[in-house]
Amino acid sequence: MSAPLTGEQQPFPDWMQSVQTRIEAALARLLPPAEAIPALLHQAMRYASLGGGKRVRPLLAFAAGELSGAAPQNLEIVSCAVELIHAYSLVHDDLPCMDDDVLRRGRPTCHVEYDEPTALLVGDSLQSLAFELLAREDLGGAAVNAERQLAMVRLLAVASGSRGMAGGQAIDLAAVGESINLPELELMHALKTGALIRAAVMLGALCGDALSTEQDAALDRFAKRAGLLFQVVDDILDCTASTATLGKTAGKDAAAEKPTYVSLVGLERAREFAAELRSQALESLVIFGERGRRLIELTDFITRRKF
Ligand code: IPE
Ligand code: IPE
Ligand code: MG
Ligand code: MG
Ligand code: MG
Repeated sequence: MSAPLTGEQQPFPDWMQSVQTRIEAALARLLPPAEAIPALLHQAMRYASLGGGKRVRPLLAFAAGELSGAAPQNLEIVSCAVELIHAYSLVHDDLPCMDDDVLRRGRPTCHVEYDEPTALLVGDSLQSLAFELLAREDLGGAAVNAERQLAMVRLLAVASGSRGMAGGQAIDLAAVGESINLPELELMHALKTGALIRAAVMLGALCGDALSTEQDAALDRFAKRAGLLFQVVDDILDCTASTATLGKTAGKDAAAEKPTYVSLVGLERAREFAAELRSQALESLVIFGERGRRLIELTDFITRRKF
């Protein structure tokens, strides 16, 4: 089984910073160099992926990896794969044909900084690169054999496609100006945002020793709750935080007539729901005891984040 926890653990802010720094360096190394032909596309891929973002999905993968004693080198690769899918989803989400946003991570969105065709291809290319990473030969060691690697590819593919993120985005677009009910909204959120968050958690755990069936089910329950929580908080922040704090245009959901938890149940009830999801997520982690500490801390970070 997993190696025992050793010595003093880093305080959460230090741990978070160290994972974020590690991911930034790994992405910078794994993305094609800016000068490689076609240079414009490669520059735009780097623009969309580097120098910003909270890196919540990598943080979740690293935290879940603590449950299974995963090697950091493996966690780094799967984290970059999920983060590249996430970066691609943001580039496409911001396009004029989708949310039509001009600001992302405090900078012009990819299609504004470059152009629309380039932004489209950035998304395509980041997605391909993500799967190239999961197929790497240096993703391995004792815990990750070829069969496990194939399971990882399958997991990320389902989470990204029409039964995951892209499917959720389709529901989101179809729901503009429509009145949808709570179960429909929950499905939309679970797919467009929850699926990738869940994938990050499960891929992190898959980088190490196998969990028991019971642990695996508990982690899956946690991941689904944390994924939904993440988007409920995103909905709340859209109407409560400033553009300067968010680094993306505030108030866009209401302006674009998007159904959100806030538009459906009101701000107060949305906040209560976030608190309920936090409790449910934490409850799922009880089985892991002290090993679940980073996931507990991250759940609180996701709940209390300001941007
Ligand atoms: C924003 O995700 C889009 C959603 C899925 C809600 P994040 O809030 O994780 O964005 P970054 O990566 O930190 O910029
Ligand atoms: C984004 O949801 C979900 C994906 C990018 C898949 P939002 O449209 O609410 O994200 P923001 O608010 O633009 O970051
Ligand atoms: Mg959107
Ligand atoms: Mg958007
Ligand atoms: Mg949003």
